[in-house]
Parts: sequence; structure tokens; C-alpha cells
Amino acid sequence: MSQASSSASVHVRAPGKINVYLGVGGRHDDGYHALATVFQAVSLYEDVIARPAADFSLVVRGVDDPSTVPLDDRNLAMRAAKLLAAAADFDGGVALEIRKSVPVAGGMGGGSADAAAALVACDALWGTGLSTARLHELAARLGADVPFALHGGTAVGTGRGDRLNPALARGRFEWVLVTSDEGLSTPAVYGRLDALREEDGALADDPPLSLDVPIPVLQALRSGDAGDLASSLHNDLQTAAVHERPDLERTIEHGIRAGALHGIVSGSGPTVALLCAGPENAQDVQSALREAGLDPLHVHGPVPGARIVG
Ligand code: C5P
Repeated sequence: MSQASSSASVHVRAPGKINVYLGVGGRHDDGYHALATVFQAVSLYEDVIARPAADFSLVVRGVDDPSTVPLDDRNLAMRAAKLLAAAADFDGGVALEIRKSVPVAGGMGGGSADAAAALVACDALWGTGLSTARLHELAARLGADVPFALHGGTAVGTGRGDRLNPALARGRFEWVLVTSDEGLSTPAVYGRLDALREEDGALADDPPLSLDVPIPVLQALRSGDAGDLASSLHNDLQTAAVHERPDLERTIEHGIRAGALHGIVSGSGPTVALLCAGPENAQDVQSALREAGLDPLHVHGPVPGARIVG
């Protein structure tokens, strides 16, 4: 395929996510852990603009410290563009621009959203016309959370988190997110969980290599009742994340004292997600946390996955 397939720029928006439930099982030989998780896409977005170019290049806007986001092949969006070009036999390039709103290394899948958005943007720009199934296959090769950023909504993830099934979720859930300036490394948090389990002797019981999301979590999503979902929120990585960052536990307690129904660390952290009873409750929680010097954001979910805008 030649590089002259299309000439207009393409703008794609992809959401960040919260894991409303995250169960972590044993570690496979490839280092990845067995997961049973429920993702919910929330209204905090990454924007990716793809422009025609002979070579591959990337600029990133919206980050305080540019050194935290690589611009070369370590960047998932760049890898996504090159993987798609190879899969579609496309011999041109792309100039990618990422406008970030999802916190970097925040446990909300911002890098995965960039990769999903880059796949959709380059597919449209180059006119590659790959099937949705093929795009999902490429997404799974890029990272465990990338298929969900394509999919959006609310979904159950099993395997390494990349095997998705839509979950029925009624209504809209209101969340207050507390972000951190300092990110947490996902591999480091999984490594800490393994170490803590080893100390506990839990590894002697062989954590399972296949696990399920508990039924009450799915029932709560189906009912659309925030109170029910609040009592089902759970994250197996939370203890490990709090071990690295004890202040996260205090942030959750603070949010609950301010009126949130419940809170968890999102994914591998350090973002804290506080579930609220409704929009007004969320605004009250946000104000209280802001007064305490934190940086809370009010978002809602579920929202759609990576989509062309404009
Ligand atoms: O797939 P992704 O690049 O998002 O994963 C980042 C890291 O998180 C992996 O290198 C691995 O250390 C850890 N991880 C894991 N098990 C999973 C997903 C991620 O151990 N199912």
C-alpha cells in the first residue's frame, strides 16, 4: 500500500479507565499475571491527531514533565502506528500528536488509550480498512489494557486482562479521581504484590491461573445502583500500591469522610477513584478534597472507546 492513501488529518479520542474490580491470580511463565477485572471507561480522554507524513514522528502536549513520556519506540502510540503499518503492508509514515489528559503512570491506562487511539487514527488516515477483530488482535499485542481502550463502556477482562466481554451496566456512575504528581510503575506494583504474597506464604497455595469476577460485582453494575457497586469495589493490587505509597490509603479515607460512598486505588495506582452517589455528592467531595490541597477531578462512566471526532 502506498503512502498516498489519504491526506486529511484524523482526530481520535480515547478514554482512561477505572478497574472497579481487579482480582490478580498467579504469574504465568511470561511474567504476566492472571486477571479477572471489570473495566469502566470514564470521561477523561486522550486525544490523538494523525497527520500524513513520509516518516514516523510524535509530539506530546499536556504533560508537566516531558521526560516522563518517551517519544521513540518505547511510546505505545508509536509502537501501535508501526505495528499497524506492518500488518497492513503500508510503506508510509505518520506524524502523531498526543494531547494528554489522563495522568501519566496513574493506573488509568493513559498509554493504552494513546495506543488504541493511534490504531484507529492511522487505520482511518491510511485507509487500511482492517476488521475490528484484527484491530483488537493488534491491540492485545501492544498491552493488556489496549483492547479495552478500543472497546470502552464497561467490560469484563480475563486472561491477562485482554480477553474482553461486555458487561451490562445500567445508568451512569459518578467518580471523583485524585491524581498524583508522582506516577507508580505497573511492573513494580505487580512485583510488590508477588513479594507480599510470598512473605504471607500465599504463593505456597498457588494463586490460580484462571479466575472469575464475583457475581455481586456484575449484579451491582446491572442494577445501576452506586451503593451496591460501592460495596463491591475491590482491587488486589491496592495493598501493594499502598505499600509503595501509604498516603493513598489516607486519600481514600479522606474521600469517604468527605461523603464518597467508597474508594479504591485505580489499577496499579496511584490514582484514587472515589465512587459517589450522584453528581451533587461528587461536587461536594471534589470541593472538600480541593480545600485539603488535593487535585480532584469529577468524571463519569461508562463512556465509549476510541472514536474519531470532528
Ligand atoms: O501489558 P502492559 O504493558 O500494560 O503491562 C505492564 C506490566 O504490568 C507488565 O510488564 C507486567 O509487569 C504487569 N502486568 C502483569 N499482569 C497483567 C498485566 C500487566 O503482571 N495481566
